[in-house]
Amino acid sequence: MKYQSTREQLLDTVIKANEVDLIRMSAGNISTRTADGLVAITPSGVKYRNMSIEDISIVDLDGNLVEGLKPSSETPMHTAIYRNLPDVGSICHTHSTYAITFAMLGDEIPMVNLELLVCGAPIPVAPWASPGTPKAGEVTVEIFKDRPELKVILLRKHGLVAIGANLDHAFDMAFNAEVGFQSYYQALLLGKPEPITDEQFAEVKAAYNL
Ligand code: 13P
Repeated sequence: MKYQSTREQLLDTVIKANEVDLIRMSAGNISTRTADGLVAITPSGVKYRNMSIEDISIVDLDGNLVEGLKPSSETPMHTAIYRNLPDVGSICHTHSTYAITFAMLGDEIPMVNLELLVCGAPIPVAPWASPGTPKAGEVTVEIFKDRPELKVILLRKHGLVAIGANLDHAFDMAFNAEVGFQSYYQALLLGKPEPITDEQFAEVKAAYNL
């Protein structure tokens, strides 16, 4: 089958993301570039637990279907990111609970823990853009272009989008962000979380060659 190994890697990431509740039912979508410059993306409305590699959609960078099922309704956001950010190899868009929670509040999330540090915190909340519209691509591209270190953006009243060099990287960014948001939420319930200072940030960067 054409794009077999890309489809398999994408499905593996879908299974992993579903197991840890980053994506549920058919909420959220994941994509990756193919070796020949197209994009493999999860199909629209297909429950993740039933998905097979044949279902995965292959689209061009303008979102036109090349093969597979009807692509995710968020294809315009994914393809806008790929068109404008050549270093992005894969994208995870999740409707994970703590991302949705903070995306409803609208405040930027400070760098309060290591999970958010590696995602490039502070994590901004993009201006409102309806899911499934090209505007979701425009608002995220504008922020990512401005902040090359940033790997995760909260989508207002919606969820998060994580970018990475490859599927593992994009998955790790989405997972780290969700853990970082959950810990921040819990800390807010107990007291006043202290942001990581510039000095502490420099120490971590030196220790891990970031
Ligand atoms: P799709 O099933 O079309 O990918 O839509 C789910 C979703 O998460 C919309 O944001």
